[in-house]
Amino acid sequence: MSDTDELLDAARAARLRAYAPYSKLRVGSAVRSASGQVYLGCNVENAAFPIGGCAEHHAIVAAVMAEGPQLRLTAVAVAALDDDDREVPIPPCGACRQFIYEFGPEAEVSFPVRSGEVLSLPITALLPHTFEFEPGG
Ligand code: THU
Repeated sequence: MSDTDELLDAARAARLRAYAPYSKLRVGSAVRSASGQVYLGCNVENAAFPIGGCAEHHAIVAAVMAEGPQLRLTAVAVAALDDDDREVPIPPCGACRQFIYEFGPEAEVSFPVRSGEVLSLPITALLPHTFEFEPGG
């Protein structure tokens, strides 16, 4: 199995932990760091809708918690299931693209698309002209 397939399978496992009673879209994410470790996240919703969070965001937070602020991401995978347990296309949302770029400016991002195939793209293809901020710079 390729590294990408492995990461996508981990994302598919993570989505089974999702707490998504409102959207019914269960999303899982797996991120690989430069150290080779894989970290998982799922979406966690809330009755106060805006305070719920995305799977990718939570996976990256878990990775930072484990490896610290020097975290470097090499790959990210996302996968989602609808209410009928069908796999649905899940290109990462804009906020998650920005969050991925922060720790993985060269990361490869993989997710299923409508055709049923998996798309793998560099984060810079998904988010060109990324916002960057250098304190004092
Ligand atoms: N969601 C993610 O987990 N990742 C994304 O990139 C897009 C959206 C979640 C948030 C919310 O719980 C549900 O999907 C519907 O928007």
